[in-house]
Amino acid sequence: MTEVARAAALLRTGELVAFPTETVYGLGADASNPLAIAKIFKAKGRPADHPLIVHLPDVSHLERWAIDIPEAAGKLAAAFWPGPLTLILKRRPGVPDAVTGGQDTVGLRVPNHPLALQLLREFAGGVAAPSANRFGRISPTTAAHVREELGSSVAMILDGGPCAVGIESTILDLSGGDPWILRPGMLDAVAIGTVLGGTPAFGSKQNAPRVSGSLEAHYAPRTPLQLVAPADIADAASTALGAGRRVAVLAPEPFALDHPNLAWHAASADPARFAHDLYAALREFDAAACDLILVAAPPADDAWRALADRLRRAAAGSN
Ligand code: TXA
Ligand code: MG
Repeated sequence: MTEVARAAALLRTGELVAFPTETVYGLGADASNPLAIAKIFKAKGRPADHPLIVHLPDVSHLERWAIDIPEAAGKLAAAFWPGPLTLILKRRPGVPDAVTGGQDTVGLRVPNHPLALQLLREFAGGVAAPSANRFGRISPTTAAHVREELGSSVAMILDGGPCAVGIESTILDLSGGDPWILRPGMLDAVAIGTVLGGTPAFGSKQNAPRVSGSLEAHYAPRTPLQLVAPADIADAASTALGAGRRVAVLAPEPFALDHPNLAWHAASADPARFAHDLYAALREFDAAACDLILVAAPPADDAWRALADRLRRAAAGSN
């Protein structure tokens, strides 16, 4: 039996399988099996009313999970699936409450990773999968990260190497009213807007569905993280070093500061590369036992929007 066939067989028997996607690693369970879903919440330590994304092998599965599917969903799926876009649609009756957190909507996506797609095709059903980290922590972007976070609580971890995108999918609400981005991702509003014929708005609506990724303190390293204007970062580092702290700096330009308690990490000026490296870098800083992580604030433009969002949350969550 191949590894993927073994993984699909484990899913069928209600076990948890962690698998790579192009965004981050997912902690997968059979989305039609409430007992399997319950294991996800237990392994993650996640509140049970937080909904999960259901991963599908291809767009033809959409109608098994959603009803009243707007035309926009088909267009977006044709343009971006498989890919880092999650669509929130009205759920089909019968989709377990455990998956939707009891809401009348469901999150769906077709991930763009060869191993994930093989697994989904072999399983031939929906796989509910949050990011494979403990609740509130940084999403894993390698199989080793998953092992560190959840090691003994998963039946199997499929290793597909480092994730290409590196941060979580864009979540777009198409369940009623205007399309709305609930969580920004590397697939940005401009790209979505070209398909929709109008750029969607961002943020949480009143009565918005629960999105744990929208909690302020989410995606946080253990070490306190501060966002600093690029021009001020050398000063901020000097001050902290002067106070006897061990400092890690994530910034695009090296600066003329040399100190045994300072570790400088080159941040890419390319947002795609920055996203690819971000979570692994934050994990390294935690492992290196620094007292403070200083990150150069990213530019205020669309290409950096999702990264600015994750860094802001990391700063809020680590203090
Ligand atoms: O890139 C990703 O989206 C990764 C990979 C594994 O696919 N998954 C991921 O899952 O980030 P998770 O559970 O860590 O974050 C999914 C977010 C949560 O914040 C959840 O609240 C939201 O999606 N979500 C899921 N279903 C929803 C729904 N019906 N309405 C609103 N938000 C929903
Ligand atoms: Mg998550």
